[in-house]
Amino acid sequence: MKTKGAELVWFDGDYVKWEEAKVPVMTHALHYGTAVFEGIRAYATDNNLFVFRLRDHMQRLHRSADVYSIPIKYSVEELCNATVELIKKTSIKESCYIRPLTFVGVHGIDLNVTKDSPTHTTIIIFPFAKYFKVEGISACVSTWRRIDGDSTPPMAKAAGNYLNSILATQESKRIGFDESILLDRNGNVSEASGENIFLVRNSAIYTPQTSDSILEGITRDTTISIAKEMGYEIIERPISRTELYLADELFLTGTAAEIVAITKIDGHDVGSGKEGLVTRSIRQKYEKLVSGKLKKYMDWLTPVW
Ligand SMILES: Cc1ncc(COP(=O)(O)O)c(C=O)c1O
Repeated sequence: MKTKGAELVWFDGDYVKWEEAKVPVMTHALHYGTAVFEGIRAYATDNNLFVFRLRDHMQRLHRSADVYSIPIKYSVEELCNATVELIKKTSIKESCYIRPLTFVGVHGIDLNVTKDSPTHTTIIIFPFAKYFKVEGISACVSTWRRIDGDSTPPMAKAAGNYLNSILATQESKRIGFDESILLDRNGNVSEASGENIFLVRNSAIYTPQTSDSILEGITRDTTISIAKEMGYEIIERPISRTELYLADELFLTGTAAEIVAITKIDGHDVGSGKEGLVTRSIRQKYEKLVSGKLKKYMDWLTPVW
C-alpha cells in the first residue's frame, strides 16, 4: 500500500485524517520494532461488507502484546467496535484490508518495556484485492532460517519479527520466485514469509505443528476446520524439506494470500504443476465462507452495515 488508503485513520480513540496520523521520530517502535499488529480482511458482498474473524484477530493482537508486556489501552471489544465504526465513517463499501497496530511510543532508548510504557494503537484501512495469482505461485526454500521461540517468538505477531520475513522475501524475489518457505532451526518446514503452509499427500493433509516456529494463522485454523468438515484427515507434525518435493499438492494460507496453491517448489513441479483438486475444493469453500454464503460459519463474519 504505497498510496493513501481511506480518508480516516483511527488513532487512540480519535478519527484522524490519513495525512495527519503521524508519530515522533523518538517513537520506540521505530528504533526497536516494539509493535504488534494484525492483518484482517473485510469482504464486500452484494448487500454488505463482512469483516472476517475480527474478534479472533483482536484477541491475537492482545496475546502478541502480552508476550512483550506491551500494554494495549483498548479491550478486544473496543477495538472491534472501532474497526466497524471506522469503516462506516469512511463509507468504504469495497473489500478492504484492516491493519490494527499497537506500538511503544516515546520511551527514550530504554529497552525495559513494561506494562507502564507509553503505547498507541491505530487502525488503518485500505481497499485490497488479490495478493497472489489465483492459479498458483512458485516458491523456493529460503537460505534464511525462521526465527525461533527462544529468540523472537514467531507465535507473537510482532513488527520486529518481520525483518526475518523481509530477508527471505528479498532473496526469493531476487532469484525469481513468488514466495519463500523457511525452515526452522531443526531443518523442518516452518512457514512462508507471511503465510502458513499445507501439504497434500495420498489425500491426507499435513501442516507444521505450532512448535515448528509458526504463527498460529487464523486462516490456518479456518482451513483446518473446513477441511475436517469436508472429510479430510489433517495431521500436524514436523515436515521435512524433501516432503515438499514429494507432495501431490502444496498450498499457503494467510489473510492477505487467502488460500493459494504452490505449483512449483525449488524448480520442481508440485504434482501436475497446477492447482490440485484438494486445494481447489478447500479454496472454493473458503471463498464461499468469507463472503457469507455458508450459514454455519456466519459467527465468524461481522457485518458492517
Ligand atoms: C509469518 C506469518 N505466518 C502466517 C500468517 C498467516 O496468518 P493469518 O492466517 O492469521 O493471516 C501470517 C499473516 O499474518 C504471517 O505473517
